[in-house]
Amino acid sequence: MEKVSIDVSQRNWHPSPLAGPIALVTTVDADGHVNVAPKSLINFITVRPLRVFLGCNREHHTARNLLGNGECVLNFPGDDLVAKVWAAAEVREPGEGEVAARGLTDIPAERVAPPRILECRYHVECRFEAVHWFQDECVFFLDVLAASVDRDAFSAKDPYAILRPVFFLEPGTYGTISSSVHLR
Ligand SMILES: Cc1cc2nc3c(=O)[nH]c(=O)nc-3n(C[C@H](O)[C@H](O)[C@H](O)COP(=O)(O)O)c2cc1C
Repeated sequence: MEKVSIDVSQRNWHPSPLAGPIALVTTVDADGHVNVAPKSLINFITVRPLRVFLGCNREHHTARNLLGNGECVLNFPGDDLVAKVWAAAEVREPGEGEVAARGLTDIPAERVAPPRILECRYHVECRFEAVHWFQDECVFFLDVLAASVDRDAFSAKDPYAILRPVFFLEPGTYGTISSSVHLR
């Protein structure tokens, strides 16, 4: 098969071989205001201990809050929430109401101050471990403190058919996992 060379800038990289799991990331600022923002530069970096990375623009509220108090929750939505996830990219100033105003519901997390988002199906509570800077972007290395999932998915034969997680592919383009295959 003939190979076609493609532009490797993030805006033009099409199609993308790297799918980033989309999460609504909750953080809190010094006044206790909750911030919600969609992020997809997320994945495991180590398994012992369980640690994940989060890539973020350094000017975003998410980055500022994480640098301030070191805690966040990665709330993973199903594909039913895609419209709300993209709408959450619209920046609101602290105190303008982040969660309820976006049609979402906050519930307490188990181990950290930022809340979980009820409508999301999977929640990973994290604490800042380290940060690496790349010009106007930074990568947070986060220790995983707790995780929780909707009971129906936990009990299902194929939880992914219920979780239906969404993955960023290109600007304005996502993919969904709607089933899983067990090899044994
Ligand atoms: C699906 C989706 C995924 C995104 N992923 C990221 C990401 O991984 N890192 C990032 O810095 N911005 C990402 N963005 C953009 C920001 O989340 C967006 O600019 C956001 O409003 C910043 O909000 P904040 O200042 O409250 O953190 C993404 C936006 C969308 C819609």
